[in-house]
Amino acid sequence: MDTYAPIVLAAGKGTRMRSTLPKVLHQVAGLPLLAHVLNAIDATPSTAAFAPLKSTTTAHRPIVVLGYEAEPVETAFGERCLYALQEEQLGTGHAVLAAEKIVNELNPVPETILVCYGDTPLISGELLARVLSEHLTNQATLTFLTAIAEQTSDFGRVVRNEDGQVCEIVEVKRATEEQKHINEVNSGVYCFDHSWLWPALHALPRNASGEYYLTDLIAVASSQGCKIVTVRGTLDETIGINDRVQLATAERLLRSRVLEQLMYAGVTILDPASTYIDANVEIGPDTVILPGTMITGKTRIGSACRIGPGTTIAESILGNGCIVLNSVLEETTLEDGVRIGPFSHCRPGAHLARNVRMGNFGEVKNSYIGAETDMHHFSYVGDATIGKHVNIGAGSITCNYDGVKKNHTTVGDGASIGSDTMLVAPVTVGEYAKTGAGSVVNRDVPPGAVVVGVPAHVLHMPQPSDGSRTEDVEKE
Ligand code: UD1
Ligand code: CA
Repeated sequence: MDTYAPIVLAAGKGTRMRSTLPKVLHQVAGLPLLAHVLNAIDATPSTAAFAPLKSTTTAHRPIVVLGYEAEPVETAFGERCLYALQEEQLGTGHAVLAAEKIVNELNPVPETILVCYGDTPLISGELLARVLSEHLTNQATLTFLTAIAEQTSDFGRVVRNEDGQVCEIVEVKRATEEQKHINEVNSGVYCFDHSWLWPALHALPRNASGEYYLTDLIAVASSQGCKIVTVRGTLDETIGINDRVQLATAERLLRSRVLEQLMYAGVTILDPASTYIDANVEIGPDTVILPGTMITGKTRIGSACRIGPGTTIAESILGNGCIVLNSVLEETTLEDGVRIGPFSHCRPGAHLARNVRMGNFGEVKNSYIGAETDMHHFSYVGDATIGKHVNIGAGSITCNYDGVKKNHTTVGDGASIGSDTMLVAPVTVGEYAKTGAGSVVNRDVPPGAVVVGVPAHVLHMPQPSDGSRTEDVEKE
């Protein structure tokens, strides 16, 4: 059985990013650069390009080479990878060598080493599988991925002889004027025969830049007459992120890829140019996304929803048939059929049950709002449990903060909160109770009671035969 070990180089400081954050933790489409590369590695065995190898080839857990600020990267990715430390960053060849010990401890020791860089977030599993598959079927010593780029690019140039055979890769800073005109470039994905790689790396001298370049192995293999195979990819799939301009380019490319996948899966996106959706977001078919909308994190949206325009949704879960118009949702759960907006804000811990209608300028935080409840205008509900079929009148507020701590408000099913009611927490309004407009409720209201005034007092208490509980409230 063939096995391969993926090694991802991520030890560099990323000087050109001008950042205190390690380069591979910078994000595109809401995920760190390194996460995109690891996702591609994970996807490799299930791609079509891998199919010819499937029965015989298995992967080891990726080995990530870290150096500058290793700790936050390890914290971010945990058990997902093995980690090798490159204490001094002496080049990409030196970085691969830092993983040698871990590779040799793998059981079984892999025959093939797949190397890619942690700063190429657009790489796909399909492409990695093509490199692997060409490498193994050709029984090559070394296989690497190339692309055609513009002459101004900062990729290493692939130098070939008159017969078209690869002789070396020359980095731009060491390239002659003539070599700079070569448009075939090194994309930074390699497969090596394990038994050839390690001795070759140990023998690699420091180059003129004082570093050990992985790319210098190509000239070594060529001079030894080893079999070198190249695989052609597209530039878009292999863009490397060295600075923030390239970060923005990757963001644009990845974003359009995410939007296309959603559209092919049945989501209508009216204006892709003004729609920002992270790579991990899931959206059901027949949902329509209107312009100026940003959906981030692990948000899940059901089918047949209408989101936007001008809406931001982060880390939230929405059921089917929800409408969110010009609003902001953070760590919020909406059950089926909820309507929000325009201009409302659901903050972390908001849970709106089926068919809640939350209208203009509302805010909900850390609260459950029961099914079919209406909260149409200018209300704040924080740290509260609101029952079903409740009507929250315009301008009503839970006064949840007493200056020291947050207190809870409970409103029972079918209650009617009159306009401009202040619910001074901790307080409970019983089922089917009513508060008058402008009342300041600082004591519990019994079920079915009507309270008014400042502070609110009981105006009417239900009698045993009193039908007021159900008169004007539609019960479930
Ligand atoms: C590298 C290639 C270049 C290729 C390009 C593709 C080399 C010498 N050059 O250039 O031919 O066209 O990628 O994107 O390989 N790293 C370490 N330790 C080190 C140095 C780098 O782990 O000592 C890591 C970096 O964190 C980075 C990756 O290796 O993730 C590539 O290094 P980088 O400096 O970005 O190389 P490029 O100049 O882009
Ligand atoms: Ca790079």
